[in-house]
Amino acid sequence: MTTLTDPSLFQTSSFINNEWVDHQDDQLEVINPSTNQIIAKVSDSTRSDAEDAVNAAQKAFKYWSGFTAKERASVLQKWFQLILENTEDLAKIMTLEQGKPISEARNEIIYGASFIEFYAEECKRVLGNIIPTVDKSRRLFTYKQAIGVVGCITPWNFPNAMITRKAAPALAAGCTVVIKPDPKTPLSALALCELAKRAGLPSGVLNVVAGTDSQGIGEVLTQHPSIAKFTFTGSTATGKILMAQCAKSIKKVSLELGGNAPFIVFNDANIDEAVEHCIATKFRNCGQTCVCTNRIYVQNDVIDNFVSKLKTGISKLKVADGFDEEATIGPMIDRKAVEKMDSFMLDAKSNGAAVLLGGKRHALGGFFYEPTLLINTSKNMRILNEEIFGPIAAVESFSSEEEVIAEANSTNYGLAAYFFTRDIGRVMRLSESLEYGIVCSNSGVFSTEVAPFGGWKQSGIGSEGGKEGIQDFYETKFHSMGGINT
Ligand code: SIN
Repeated sequence: MTTLTDPSLFQTSSFINNEWVDHQDDQLEVINPSTNQIIAKVSDSTRSDAEDAVNAAQKAFKYWSGFTAKERASVLQKWFQLILENTEDLAKIMTLEQGKPISEARNEIIYGASFIEFYAEECKRVLGNIIPTVDKSRRLFTYKQAIGVVGCITPWNFPNAMITRKAAPALAAGCTVVIKPDPKTPLSALALCELAKRAGLPSGVLNVVAGTDSQGIGEVLTQHPSIAKFTFTGSTATGKILMAQCAKSIKKVSLELGGNAPFIVFNDANIDEAVEHCIATKFRNCGQTCVCTNRIYVQNDVIDNFVSKLKTGISKLKVADGFDEEATIGPMIDRKAVEKMDSFMLDAKSNGAAVLLGGKRHALGGFFYEPTLLINTSKNMRILNEEIFGPIAAVESFSSEEEVIAEANSTNYGLAAYFFTRDIGRVMRLSESLEYGIVCSNSGVFSTEVAPFGGWKQSGIGSEGGKEGIQDFYETKFHSMGGINT
């Protein structure tokens, strides 16, 4: 096993009320997806641990929300600094449990930390309003108050950044949080707790409950009367269930759900750049992100050139254990994910798709899958209708702008969309016509702490990041203040 400079970052118990809570008897096994070996046994927390965590968070709320924004910011800045100082260890822990290449893991730690820095600054600038009065004896104003205890459920594909993108604005606003990380990747979440403790976050403000009882812990986080807001990143199907649970007590909800991102290349595009960005957005994290390119549409007069360059680019990807510094594609997260790729391939091939590259499990074995390129796909194939969440790229042709916009929008998802064209009018037309929360032209890069990340349609509710990402953690209070003239 890889060695850490600071082994105390490798925590294996839930973190509740600033204490490590261990159940020796019940343990969940964390697997390295690259080797299929057990790398840790983490205390398998229960519904009752989740209740303890919510109660601790409720108790801490009054104290923490009573800090000034500046005081909270100063603790968060310390947490941010500690994360940066420990980037290498945190990245190693992530690669170990999630499998992503170590270079991607390092980037994620820095990306994750950026939300803490940003919201430590942003919380000082959250303002209310003074409203011109309608009555000389009264004054009217609004101000913001932290909403309360926030329940978070976070995914395995970004075990660090999807936590900080929720927890940082919540904590900065004065909320306290209880997080349930995915049981496949609890170690990154627990390492963040160790650093939060060292940064001086008071007891009960940040709690992480790691456990396999998704239903029990999930019910606490969506139904406990002390939870004021619930936030989830994961699949649309699970999001619907959790949202229905929250409806019972009208909790504020934000959801970051699945995607079906189109990547559109027009005949005036810079094809080399389009290919480079297509590979980056399709194969990031082995294709396992909600914003990964899912459908590639190329205008018919440049499709041959594009496909040939795409094939060359994909064949240069290095599939390897994430600790290989040259790896660009690590393993998939688990066997189920690999089986899903098999089933997509079976469906695509039996319906006439041609496989230009890959198309099967990788010779490395385990959960490795070959980067795959398909052509001759057709609209009825699952690969064009479902979120792939894996390293399979399928290229379709189109003839006109109207046709491709209609095709791109013909989905219930609306998270991210990409397009390449040098026509400035078309850039604006597509920007306005695509029914997506994030549009990205002539680039596949957009993830940043300073801008809102959120989906339309069944891709979600609300935004994370940017000034939008903190608003949901406050209630607005309207004060009508009388007695001015008496
Ligand atoms: C996601 O796909 O869930 C997050 C990706 C990102 O923040 O870039």
